[in-house]
Parts: sequence; structure tokens; C-alpha cells
Amino acid sequence: MERNDAVMPSVAIFIAAVLGVILLFLFNKETAPTPVVVDPAVVAAASKEWPTVGQQVFSTNCAGCHGANGQGGAGPKLAGTEEIMKDPTLAYTRVTKGKGGMPAFEGKLKDNEIYAVVNYIRNSWGNKADIITPATIAAASSTISPEVLKNRSRFVPEEIKLYEIFLITVLLICLSYGLIGLYSWWAEGEMLVPGYHRTRSTPVQVAAMVAVLLGIVVFGVLFVRQMMFDLKGWAADPIVKPNVTSEGFYAAMVVLLIAVAIALYKKFFMDSEVLVEDASGEFPW
Ligand code: HEC
Repeated sequence: MERNDAVMPSVAIFIAAVLGVILLFLFNKETAPTPVVVDPAVVAAASKEWPTVGQQVFSTNCAGCHGANGQGGAGPKLAGTEEIMKDPTLAYTRVTKGKGGMPAFEGKLKDNEIYAVVNYIRNSWGNKADIITPATIAAASSTISPEVLKNRSRFVPEEIKLYEIFLITVLLICLSYGLIGLYSWWAEGEMLVPGYHRTRSTPVQVAAMVAVLLGIVVFGVLFVRQMMFDLKGWAADPIVKPNVTSEGFYAAMVVLLIAVAIALYKKFFMDSEVLVEDASGEFPW
């Protein structure tokens, strides 16, 4: 009996490919670097406001944990702490993003208040350091380590939006549907014949099987290595974004090769009963 179910899987794969191209463009837009806006008003205020605004912001928001004179308490000592003076971005990053027991102040304090309090703690209780302005932060944020850039794909999104998750899901469903369909076409042949299917595998087929099994091991090792590298990145400060593309690619290759191995096994190594499908159905499963 002739099959009529090979067209839909091809259409599904075509749709998946189109979605893939659309997604690449969406992701690309997300990864385009946003120009850092340096507000001259905030720059000008930074060197003037810290003794007044800075002190006020500190006693309202920070003194409870870090002490009125930066001597420490629930939070660490700020007075005389070398890193705060040496690292131009540490205090700014802590105040905006928070860490551990310290809350993030981004959105709670105004831009100029953040610079004021950062400059206040860098220049009080015997501390002495350069004044930090948005220009300082802009300059520091453009110096991403080349090692990190090398390990980061161009297509890693900063964040995935809801509609992108939806598109990815549809893409994966279409792709799986298409591949399973093509597989059953390939494994079961053009004609569905009831009876018993006996297989004799040739050396080429055995070699292909061995190559696929080796591939599973290789991509498995690559996946574990990438995960360990990315885990180290998470622990680092500042956090190094994980290379999601590589992780996903290696994991997908492992899954894909396992599927290929099963397919090869069914096609070339397994004796099986061949069943006739319902002739009226378009879909094979
Ligand atoms: C609820 C308590 C709490 C408040 C409020 C708080 N902090 Fe902190 N702060 C912490 C803790 C805890 C840490 C240590 C975080 C870590 O490294 O795990 C910390 C760390 C820091 C550091 C880094 C110190 C170092 O040596 O690494 C700076 C700078 C800092 N805080 C400044 C501020 C400023 C400025 C404010 C007010 C805008 C503030 N903190 C408000 C608890 C607090």
C-alpha cells in the first residue's frame, strides 16, 4: 500500500526553518548593544551633591546596616575598605544591583542620588577616591573581557521575551513533527507491507552506528565541560553570562544523535513486525 503521509512533515520542517530565521533576527535586535546615555546634568551634579544629598541618602537607606560612620553592622564595614576605593564600579554595582543580604536600590533611588551616595561612601570617614559619574560607569561597562566575548555567541539573547518563547515552542513542535514524520517515511519505506521484516546489517551500517555512538560521547563531554565553565561564570563577580547557545547546541546534539542511533537500530539492526497503518489517516501517529 502506498504512503501519502510524507508531505506534512516536509511542510512542518519548512515552517520551522522560517521561524528559525525570524527568531535569529529578533535575537539579533536584542543583542545589539544599547548606547549608554551619559546625562550631563547627572555628571555635573555628581561632584557637587555627594556631601549633602549623599549623606542624607546614606543615613536614610544605608546607615542601618553599614553604621552611621561606615563602621559596619549587618553589612560590612565601608570606612577604610580598600576595594570600595580601588574598584570604580564596585560600590555602584552593589547599590544598583544589591547582593546577598543587601537589597538593590535601582529604581528606589534616583540616578543622581545613587551617584551621590556612592561618592559619599568613597570619600567619607577617611576614604578618598575619584568622583564617579555616569561617564565612569559607561567607560567601565564597555570593557568586557575578550575571554568572555570569545566564549559568547553573537546570538545569545540578553533575555527571552514571551513571544520569543512562543515562537521557539512552535518551532520545536514543527521540527519534531517533521523529523519524526520523515523518519517514519525513511524507516518504513514507501510501501507499507504487512509481514515480518528481517534485517542484515552491512559493515558500513555498523560503522555508521559506531560513529553515531561516539558522537553521543563527544557531545556529552563537550556539554559537561561547557556547563562547568558556565557554572564558574555564575559564581564570578561580576557574573559572566552563560553561553546558552553552546549549552543548547551540545545538549541538542546529544538528544539528536540518540534519536539517530535508535533510528539506525530500527532500520538496520532490528528484526520487526511491519504493521499496516490506517490508510485513511494523513498523519502517521
Ligand atoms: C539590609 C542591610 C543593608 C542595607 C540597607 C544596605 N546594605 Fe550594603 N551591604 C549589605 C551586606 C549584607 C553586604 C555584603 C554583600 C555581600 O558581599 O554578600 C553589603 C555590601 C555593600 C558594599 C560592598 C562592600 C564590600 O566590601 O564588598 C557596599 C559598597 C555597600 N554595601 C553600600 C551600601 C549603600 C551605599 C547602601 C545604601 C544605599 C547600602 N549598602 C545599604 C547590607 C546592606
